[in-house]
Amino acid sequence: MKQSMISANTAFALVTMAFVGCQSALAADTLVAVKVASAPNLGSLDKDPAWAKAKPLKFELTGGANFAGGQGATNATLKAVYTKDMLYMLVQYNDPTDSRRRGPFQKQADGTWKKLADPENKGGDDNVYYEDKWAFIWPIGDSIKGFDKKGCAAMCHEGQGKPYGNKYTAAEGQLGDIWHMKGSRTVPWGFVDDQYVDHTRYDAKESPNAGRKSDPGNPEGDYTPIKLVDGKPEFMGRDGKAANEGGTYYIKRGDEVAFDDSRFKAGDEVASYIANELKGDRADIRIVHKWSDGVQTSVISRKLVTGSKFDVQFDKLNKRYAFGFAAFDNAQVRHATVDDPLFMTFKK
Ligand code: HEM
Repeated sequence: MKQSMISANTAFALVTMAFVGCQSALAADTLVAVKVASAPNLGSLDKDPAWAKAKPLKFELTGGANFAGGQGATNATLKAVYTKDMLYMLVQYNDPTDSRRRGPFQKQADGTWKKLADPENKGGDDNVYYEDKWAFIWPIGDSIKGFDKKGCAAMCHEGQGKPYGNKYTAAEGQLGDIWHMKGSRTVPWGFVDDQYVDHTRYDAKESPNAGRKSDPGNPEGDYTPIKLVDGKPEFMGRDGKAANEGGTYYIKRGDEVAFDDSRFKAGDEVASYIANELKGDRADIRIVHKWSDGVQTSVISRKLVTGSKFDVQFDKLNKRYAFGFAAFDNAQVRHATVDDPLFMTFKK
């Protein structure tokens, strides 16, 4: 009998090698969340000792606007740790600029005020006067067909009535949880915008954002544009400072006061919107964020289980969770993305 052509040990060795081989292949797209006894302090950012226990997942993002040399690409690193009921993630990627000038009003030499905007912007597509952002998308309950093969591309629809395109899932019941960090809108309040994507198609009037929606909590939205009244912004920040003279390019709700034009000279820039504090289901994700030396660093926290139908639930720690990640360098929609799906598992 030739069956013992190869010894049991060799067979075992081959199986082990195959297993190790596929383990390392697996690791390349898998983020392993590590259990920690005490929660990392968000304020310590990447310096908290908890992060030394977690293995990084590194990957490239491509196909966006801006970033180094205008190549629209960058490199990202993720880490994840968890406690009994909370998930924490460290998000880092290269970005040569700390972009905060999100469409400010600027005082002109003749004393009038003009809202700065990207001259190439043909609708919802500003890549000059915007902010830095990143985003995760997690299929909710594995409902997005094909996500584990195609990743976010499963929801991507270029063109269709908009310069860049639309995002929506293929059919009713297919839902994705969007975690959307907005550097000059939600970060000042310490939140990531908790949103979701469904199957709604684009309609210029009824659904201009197609499938992209926000979890309940802020009927007024995450920000409120400031109007020009008699050619002047209606409000300024309580500190009365120009954003390019030590002030900020946003006003936090509650800090808005009546505008005093006499405080500003030609060339001064002021905020064109009020950032609203997120509430309810939309306020599930906390963040501390910093740009430093060409690197964006965020630490976020969220309950493993939020109970919301608009959120991914990390309620089975022996399950593999698919996700996609994108980063926006001073860009409204033209994000650099990882094309293949990524996965997160929980190490017990
Ligand atoms: C890799 C994972 C991805 C994530 C996490 C992601 C996330 C997002 C988010 C949060 C927005 C909204 C930006 C805004 O505030 O307007 C957006 C917009 C968009 N994304 Fe992605 N995206 C990903 C991949 C892709 C891919 C692969 C495509 C296909 C090219 C794509 C196409 C679009 C389009 C067309 C928009 C504009 C939608 C609109 O203006 O309403 N995305 N994406």
